[in-house]
Amino acid sequence: MSLLEVNDVNKAFGGLKALNHINLSVKEGSVHAIIGPNGAGKSTLLNCLIGRLIPDSGTVTFGGRSLIGVRPYEINQIGVSRVFQTPEIFGELSLIDNVMIPSLAHRDGTFKLNPWHRMDGEAEIRDHAMSNLADVGLAEKSEIIADSLSRGDKRRLELAMCLSQDPKLLLLDEPTAGMARHDTNRTIDLLKEISERRGQTMVVIEHDMHVVFSLAHYVTVMAQGGVIVEDRPENIKGNPKVQEAYLGGAHL
Ligand SMILES: Nc1ncnc2c1ncn2[C@@H]1O[C@H](COP(=O)(O)OP(=O)(O)OP(=O)(O)O)[C@@H](O)[C@H]1O
Ligand SMILES: [Mg+2]
Repeated sequence: MSLLEVNDVNKAFGGLKALNHINLSVKEGSVHAIIGPNGAGKSTLLNCLIGRLIPDSGTVTFGGRSLIGVRPYEINQIGVSRVFQTPEIFGELSLIDNVMIPSLAHRDGTFKLNPWHRMDGEAEIRDHAMSNLADVGLAEKSEIIADSLSRGDKRRLELAMCLSQDPKLLLLDEPTAGMARHDTNRTIDLLKEISERRGQTMVVIEHDMHVVFSLAHYVTVMAQGGVIVEDRPENIKGNPKVQEAYLGGAHL
């Protein structure tokens, strides 16, 4: 069954068609990779899924509910969490505080607790946050400040912040960007484990083909605001359209 449906979405910035008749269908429990050259429209598409941008036309539905114009503060409650291309963390706060913040924010008057997030006290939220840090291998660093982390660990911290929301859909914008191979492999193992253990539905934007082929069940290839191909990873490799659009004729 499809959890996320993007139907004929268009978005222009002035004369530039950043998204041109985009269709995307993400099956529940699957890992769906989006690949494509710089400027293809990948991040713009993700921004349209979380209310940061409103498409000029088209529909986006998540579990049957429209995400068009959703308020950014509502998106976690709906069940969508995103790891951004540039880490968005509180650098001066400890790791445990960073992971607790999204849950605590839901407790004030304006935000309701996530319905699937039935925790009463702060102690419970702290325990949950610690288990999320343990899931990403950062439990021993829980009390140090986030700014002191390496780039790879900052990405993992963001992932723990997302997981703390128990999302139905996890969006990852280049989760391995700038990482050395060892860190990339650790991230692949971690995401694989989350996918298998939680049956977590994920959309992963990625430039590293090793990550895509290790992780993804489906791949959408974008170029110049359009979708070139949507297929299983094994069928992407030899596809001449993909080689032309993505690699200027080189082979994957
Ligand atoms: N807010 C904006 N205003 C104007 N142009 C924008 C804006 N955001 C994106 N663009 C343009 O839209 C196009 C798609 O950008 P986008 O960031 O979605 O690409 P991308 O596929 O994520 O690329 P990358 O791999 O470099 O992250 C680019 O030409 C970009 O310059
Ligand atoms: Mg991008």
